[in-house]
Amino acid sequence: MADEMGIFETMYTMRAMRRLKPDPVPLETIRKILEAGTQAPSGQNLQAWAFVVLQDPDKKKFFQERYHKAILDRFGEGMTPDPNDTSSFARTVRSALHLAEHMHEAPVLLLVCGKRDWPFAVPKDKRVGHAPPSYGSIYPCVQNILLACRALGLGASLTTMHQMFEDELHQRVGIPDDYGVVATIPIGFPSGKFGPVKRRPAPDVTHFDTWGQHQPA
Ligand SMILES: Cc1cc2nc3c(=O)[nH]c(=O)nc-3n(C[C@H](O)[C@H](O)[C@H](O)COP(=O)(O)O)c2cc1C
Repeated sequence: MADEMGIFETMYTMRAMRRLKPDPVPLETIRKILEAGTQAPSGQNLQAWAFVVLQDPDKKKFFQERYHKAILDRFGEGMTPDPNDTSSFARTVRSALHLAEHMHEAPVLLLVCGKRDWPFAVPKDKRVGHAPPSYGSIYPCVQNILLACRALGLGASLTTMHQMFEDELHQRVGIPDDYGVVATIPIGFPSGKFGPVKRRPAPDVTHFDTWGQHQPA
């Protein structure tokens, strides 16, 4: 496996890889990816992440069935694009549907969890129910994991639809109440091709000194 990609090439070619082969990913590779995740920064360096590595076929199938239903409930049964539609949106929808139908075939579904924490802006007397996980402290870890997968030649994508069945997921996997699931990352060897990614040019979203001023004075 190529482990030597430069950081910029890794970032610039890290597409959401939703078409994965079922071939197993070695445990030492998974450990290396998670090690990379844990190098991320976090608020107060609390490192409030935890990982659940789903490999059990029944648990993956449970996840896939709920995820697929959540996607169809959210976007509608008729979400399949016209086969002649080659737009970027249509391709994303097709690949998202493919993932929803085949997620359980990925060798690993990685649940990245975060300890629940109230945002400072919510005063103590206004807090009801569970706090959300501190997303800002977990997403750098998620990004490190995605980059590590790419650098090691593995396909991965960031998904969040588990939110639609999170209580059931907690019960099924035994996740304690004081943790929330921030992202689910299916990981495996890629069937599709990597990058380059298509993004809005940075100068279009950059402002110098005053909003709207796209060039430095
Ligand atoms: C917060 C967040 C939530 C996402 N949730 C999902 C998801 O539930 N399912 C999915 O297939 N992709 C999900 N994605 C992936 C995006 O669709 C993907 O990053 C975007 O379309 C760019 O794709 P590309 O890297 O292939 O160009 C999510 C991405 C982010 C950042």
